[in-house]
Amino acid sequence: MNRTHEESSRTGIDPHRRDGTFERSNRPKGDTMTDHVRIFDTTLRDGEQSPGFSMNIDEKIRMASQLARLGVDVIEAGFPIASPGDFEAVRRIATEVRGPVIAGLARITEKDIDRAADAVEPAQRRRIHTFSSGSDIHLEHMMRISREENIRRSVKAVVHARSRVEDVEFSAQDTTRADRDYLVDLYTAVAEAGATTLNIPDTVGYTQPHEFEELIAYLVARVKVPGIVFSVHCHNDLGLAVANSLAAVRAGARQVECTINGIGERAGNCSLEEIAMALRVHAKSSGIDTGIVSTEIWNTSRLLTSITGVPVQPNKAIVGANAFAHESGIHQDGVLKARATYEIMTPESVGRSSHKMVLGKHSGKHALADRLSALGFEPTETQLNAIFDKFKVLADKKKEVFDEDLVALVSEETESVEVGDDWQLVSYSVVSGSQAAPEAEVVLRRDGQDPVAARASGDGPVDAVLAAIRELTGRTIDIDTYQLKAITGGTDAQGEVAVSARLGGRTLTGQGRSTDIIEASAKAYLALIRRAAANSMSNLVMRSEP
Ligand code: KIV
Ligand code: ZN
Repeated sequence: MNRTHEESSRTGIDPHRRDGTFERSNRPKGDTMTDHVRIFDTTLRDGEQSPGFSMNIDEKIRMASQLARLGVDVIEAGFPIASPGDFEAVRRIATEVRGPVIAGLARITEKDIDRAADAVEPAQRRRIHTFSSGSDIHLEHMMRISREENIRRSVKAVVHARSRVEDVEFSAQDTTRADRDYLVDLYTAVAEAGATTLNIPDTVGYTQPHEFEELIAYLVARVKVPGIVFSVHCHNDLGLAVANSLAAVRAGARQVECTINGIGERAGNCSLEEIAMALRVHAKSSGIDTGIVSTEIWNTSRLLTSITGVPVQPNKAIVGANAFAHESGIHQDGVLKARATYEIMTPESVGRSSHKMVLGKHSGKHALADRLSALGFEPTETQLNAIFDKFKVLADKKKEVFDEDLVALVSEETESVEVGDDWQLVSYSVVSGSQAAPEAEVVLRRDGQDPVAARASGDGPVDAVLAAIRELTGRTIDIDTYQLKAITGGTDAQGEVAVSARLGGRTLTGQGRSTDIIEASAKAYLALIRRAAANSMSNLVMRSEP
């Protein structure tokens, strides 16, 4: 399911030169041409490393392919030195995903940089993103080196990175608590050594818009190395990541680092959909825009939630369930008369279609393929056949099959199966009454072998079914969170269950979908077992951590 980069034809904005190089200017304000702000997506690096968002390699490829379709300029695909799995994921993305620059993160050591360079090597356009720190707090307590030594090592790292790739980004963590003049010296030194993008992170989410605007303006005015692009990377600890990034753009930053749904360390990063739409809605008056294909925003957000099982809050800007819902009578009346009364952008502009029903049980495979293609999916023939079979079963249970249902079917079909622990639900039944504890009988099949059955009781029907699954699989995972949500409206809606557990220092999730919530819960638990096995947590009993 590979996607291509097609933003310019759909937005009329050329995000970067066709020869593959970035235009390197911080064009002064007042220029009448549209100024391009590069979107550097770090969903697969800063986002993926946060609790509950870990993805396997196939999921990362699907996410990266969708990011390319969304029109991001740079995909930070991972931190290759962190683990062999991270290296492999970056390398496969560099091999398979075309369009955006593929970046790999590296500390300022030769070993890290070589690993990142090897990982991004197959990419058409590749970048090494190397980082040290800028504040005395970090230098003294974490890196334990002097300011001078930090400059020396950072310069050495950039020179080495430039010997491996043309495109090198340098970041100093915690700039918003650092001495400004030291930052001028550090960034000037690395830019003279060959860094092409200078990223100024607000690592701890400490700054405020007016203060960050001043900092960026200070650096833009003093780090006078021709051809440099200034970038920002804001965390959301005070809920200001988007506002701070916008302020930085006002001061001349021309790259913003961000993530889908704002995921990332602690309170997350600047949300891609929010910064992109904030710039788009005001593009005419500001003359500043990105190359984001805004109509792909909804699909991308939805893909991330379906892969990770972590939903976005209903009132989240742009991608929350209520973001375009007008509830009060006065608002509804206004919108019916003229949408502009209460809408500053249309749901369609971010890819949320207002036409609801797409397919029903009489729809054929061609109609399904057409709709999937419109949603951005290009399944192989085998995948399409499998999705079609599932679609028919679903269409029998539901009157109307919505886009959201189709996205869920695709997610289910493309979830990778971990050989050796591929337990699938064959059937279940529950007997429950008001007096006795519910009793479940569950039938599972492992790796295509003969089905096996077990009975168990529990506090409720879901509990009883999970107890029978534990009995059959020999896997006991204590669930930390259990979330149920309806994928679409109506009493025949599919339910999506996401369960998570903390295992081996990581939070893992599993999802299951069905019109029957007990079945969705069983599927989610089996998905969690598969994921735990894929992460080599293959003990017979996997107790979650306190
Ligand atoms: O928050 C941060 O400072 C980072 C850097 C590695 C850019 O994620
Ligand atoms: Zn970060």
